[in-house]
Amino acid sequence: MLRTTFLALAAAAGLATAAPVERATAAPIEERGGAWTLSADVVAAWKPLAHYAAAVYCDPGTIWSWSCGTHCDSTGQLNVLATGGDNGYNPYYYVGTNGSHVIVSIAGTNPASVSSVGVDIDFPLTNVDSKYFPSASGVQVHEGFYGAFTRMAGGIAPAVQNAVNSGTNQVLVVGHSLGGAQGHLVATYLQKLLGSRATVTARLFASPRVGNQAWANYVDSTLGNRAQHMVNNNDVVPQLPPADWGFQQSSNEIWIVTPGGSQYRACPGQENQSCQDGLGIVGAVANFAQYLDVAVHLGPYVGVWLSSLECAA
Ligand SMILES: *[C@@H]1O[C@H](CO)[C@@H](O)[C@H](O)[C@H]1NC(C)=O
Ligand SMILES: *[C@@H]1O[C@H](CO)[C@@H](O)[C@H](O)[C@H]1NC(C)=O
Repeated sequence: MLRTTFLALAAAAGLATAAPVERATAAPIEERGGAWTLSADVVAAWKPLAHYAAAVYCDPGTIWSWSCGTHCDSTGQLNVLATGGDNGYNPYYYVGTNGSHVIVSIAGTNPASVSSVGVDIDFPLTNVDSKYFPSASGVQVHEGFYGAFTRMAGGIAPAVQNAVNSGTNQVLVVGHSLGGAQGHLVATYLQKLLGSRATVTARLFASPRVGNQAWANYVDSTLGNRAQHMVNNNDVVPQLPPADWGFQQSSNEIWIVTPGGSQYRACPGQENQSCQDGLGIVGAVANFAQYLDVAVHLGPYVGVWLSSLECAA
């Protein structure tokens, strides 16, 4: 029943456009603010990361020359080492270096990303291969996400390893929506692969849940506070697949308290009830069903819409 409802919603979402719509603000939860509200400079540091995450929605030809328009212009030059994906079954990605960091960016499927996530939630949890995730006892992840990850890992890892071997030992993984799920998988994999040779950081947007409790713990023990995922108010995607089905978010949500608003709250721990979880999945689904609220999923995040809308022609 629940499953049928989600699939119907997902199908409806495929018909929705990315245009912002009139929408009721989510039921407010208690404002805590104060110490947990991110300072302006911490928030500002996310802005280039949002531009890196948006750029991957642009045509790969413009990525190679780092001439994709606003998003490329906003980050400074990137020396692109690899691109891949087909913007369908396999999400777009790119790998590049900006002098100090290797940047890995992974797309969702836009504008049908909510649709693809919705369809994907019918897949079961599956075991992971120890060649990607060593000593991952009891770890299971979403089969559809895992399949996409295994298809892209072989394109991403050699480019990252080359850059690390050339002396760039900071690796930053960004991604939005399905790309947020892929980002959790890729960043955890790369940190295990590279060990002490590099420090991997993940800054993700609107990531669905990726795996079970053991997976969330595995991400936390591998990346710690270096893995953070931003959630725009009551976007339904981070609430999927439902926790009731055995899925669990890893730690460190950064919650945008009002849709696209200016207050960002740190939410330590997994599934922190002081942040999006406090609204409950029923509210998120109701909001989505009533308003076909794809807009809140696309942004803005730190003033940046994560879609192809601002890509150079
Ligand atoms: C590369 O990008 C990261 C992330 O935005 C930034 O912290 C770093 O300063 C950049 N490096 C250079 C050399 O611009
Ligand atoms: C959840 O986040 C709030 C701040 O947003 C914090 O006060 C609280 O301690 C966190 N809960 C856990 C279990 O870490």
